[in-house]
Amino acid sequence: MDTTTHFHLYAERRARVAAQLGAGGIAIVPTAPERSRNRDSEFLFRHDSYFYYLTGFTEPNAWLVITADGETTLFCQPKDLEREIWDGIRMGPEAAPSHLGMSQAFSVAELDQRLPRLLENRHTVWYPFATHKGLEGRVDGWLQSVRARVRYGALCPEVQRDLCGVLDEMRLIKDAHEQGIMRRAARISARAHIRAMQRSAAMLSAGQDVREYHLDAELLHEFRQHGSQYPAYSSIVAAGANACVLHYRADNAAIRDGELVLIDAGCELDGYASDITRTFPANGRFTGPQRVLYDLVLASQEAAIAATQPGNRFVDPHEATVKVLTQGMLDLGLLDKNQVGTLEDAIEHRHYFAHYMHRTGHWLGMDVHDCGSYVEPSELGTVSERKDPLSGETIRDRPSRILRPGMALTIEPGLYVRPSDRIPREFWNIGIRIEDDAIVTEHSCELISRDVPVKADDIEALMRG
Ligand code: GLY
Ligand code: MN
Ligand code: MN
Repeated sequence: MDTTTHFHLYAERRARVAAQLGAGGIAIVPTAPERSRNRDSEFLFRHDSYFYYLTGFTEPNAWLVITADGETTLFCQPKDLEREIWDGIRMGPEAAPSHLGMSQAFSVAELDQRLPRLLENRHTVWYPFATHKGLEGRVDGWLQSVRARVRYGALCPEVQRDLCGVLDEMRLIKDAHEQGIMRRAARISARAHIRAMQRSAAMLSAGQDVREYHLDAELLHEFRQHGSQYPAYSSIVAAGANACVLHYRADNAAIRDGELVLIDAGCELDGYASDITRTFPANGRFTGPQRVLYDLVLASQEAAIAATQPGNRFVDPHEATVKVLTQGMLDLGLLDKNQVGTLEDAIEHRHYFAHYMHRTGHWLGMDVHDCGSYVEPSELGTVSERKDPLSGETIRDRPSRILRPGMALTIEPGLYVRPSDRIPREFWNIGIRIEDDAIVTEHSCELISRDVPVKADDIEALMRG
């Protein structure tokens, strides 16, 4: 990764945090723990996103401390030739201040000894709540040590505050550097989707036994080939009816001629996720019914894209999607007009839930479901009440977040048709989702994942090639 060349970015972010801590504030941010997989094997280490956002530092066993006056302290693994021979080079506390722009750095072995001294005479201690198992207990222990010294005139922090809100708001708006990485991540993922599509058609036309895991392997190949460290989440490769299982994983099901394949997969590059879904005919040619449903989902996505612009709200793309999809369900007989009534009735009573049961997007960033409040902070006090038409419960709605330039989100409508005697048989077991990644711009949004085609004709042309 590019930490040392861009260390000013991380230093600026730390300064922005320091400015929000208030007089006497101190913030503590650990990286993620290493996790055992089984016996001597560990899961591949992935740094904590908050920690990385403020340091660009990817080693395990590290902690960042920021004080309101802008001083920054890193605790990291000490240099240790024996350990470095087994586990790899460590930056070490001597190099960290100049490499990472920290005020000072110490061995993580000194954490418990030094933290109480850093906390002494501060008013408020900030740390991310409910994100790191055992962190509250560690903070308690350090505060107890401070309290043991109050007889000597030390003051103990009186207030504990959640740092997540501060960092979530910062992370919600992606700066130019972050946008650049996200564009590259999305481009790699788009290539991976193309590779999987083409491989599916080629293997089927050669008469080979194609399995979901074959296409998963193609995705992984392309991710790693272009420097992505790992998939941003477990890839979904779902053949035929498996596409109707929303959290399906790439498994061993056969991919058959005439079926659709739904792939939801994106790489993580230098700490940033991409998240793309394409649904394509395994053999490269949509059947009539597949094409009808595909075009409906695409039309609903286009409506959502048009609604993704600054000044609109986060819910607007979802509502635009639901309108188009529900009208399509009524037109195609997926919903029975005689039972559900008009378009407005079908939306009001959420009849579309039968075939579209998830939201149309989420924030995207370091985490695939990235942080950031979905409620507009400037309107937090505004609450409207309504009765849920299905359960009768009172629902308290808060104003949805207003979209602003630099926010990144996915746009991912879908349509899932399980077998039912009330639905034309030709649509049974078809599951379609189309997902693209967008960055809100000054006047509209930039789709960063469209290097992989999305129109049915373009997908067919690509797969013929
Ligand atoms: N791949 C996770 C999602 O689409 O939300
Ligand atoms: Mn996805
Ligand atoms: Mn998604």
